Amino acid sequence: MPADSPFVALSRPERLVSVQLDGTELMLPEGENLAASLLAAGVRSFRETPVSGVPRAPFCMMGACFDCLLQIDGIQRQACMLPVTEGMVITRPKGTTHG
Ligand code: FES
Repeated sequence: MPADSPFVALSRPERLVSVQLDGTELMLPEGENLAASLLAAGVRSFRETPVSGVPRAPFCMMGACFDCLLQIDGIQRQACMLPVTEGMVITRPKGTTHG
């Protein structure tokens, strides 16, 4: 966990597994909440809005706001609703799709 992360793990993970985030390998705790694990790893922006391109990050952590949307193994999903699993391939949706 990076020293500058404001998020602190309450327990030591049993096992770290490899995931890819925009082509960069991260080691995250297997079975823990994906959004919380990415925040603890220092990820600050999860996506950019399709209209204005502003960065967004998890807000509600309970599946209501959709600010944690990521493309995970080719499907857009809410990171706060998923556990970390080994080999996840994650990309962050970027900005506008029109002009
Ligand atoms: S953080 Fe709100 S839906 Fe995931």
